[in-house]
Amino acid sequence: MAGLLMVSLLACQSNESANARLAPVSELAATMRVMTTDMEGLKTAVAKGELTLSQVDAMIVAHASLATDQATTPSDIKITFPTFADGYIKQLQFLRDQVINQADVKQQIDAFNAVLVTCVGCHQDHCPGPIERIEKIAIQP
Ligand code: HEC
Repeated sequence: MAGLLMVSLLACQSNESANARLAPVSELAATMRVMTTDMEGLKTAVAKGELTLSQVDAMIVAHASLATDQATTPSDIKITFPTFADGYIKQLQFLRDQVINQADVKQQIDAFNAVLVTCVGCHQDHCPGPIERIEKIAIQP
């Protein structure tokens, strides 16, 4: 039961058929799951100002394939996708800059939350289902 609930929360649409939900995980969906657990996993460290350069670098490396990964339904991918994908990686690089520059915690939190804004932007255009979960990762002031 918990498993089913989890799957429906993760899928693009909450009303997808059971068949669609049981379909093999696409490259893009697999990367998205990594992106989600990475961002959720680093939230506490960011909030405490303890995010490390190697943690951000690991995310940039692990998430970069989103730009070229095959989606479950490639025809759903819109012309705006590459711009959103690029914006996402650029925002991670900005977070990296803030860590390198030892920006204060508030600025690092703002940069982390700005990454999530780019997630939501692409999702509004492509895949609204996970937006609520993505917004919950944001660090409240
Ligand atoms: C450039 C567009 C884009 C960006 C940026 C993006 N996503 Fe996605 N995301 C998608 C698309 C498209 C899918 C559907 C993938 C598929 O079904 O193949 C998806 C799927 C997902 C899923 C569902 C995966 C599954 O199990 O089916 C989650 C969760 C998710 N994204 C979270 C995130 C998070 C968190 C971020 C930012 C850290 C993010 N996404 C950034 C486009 C994007």
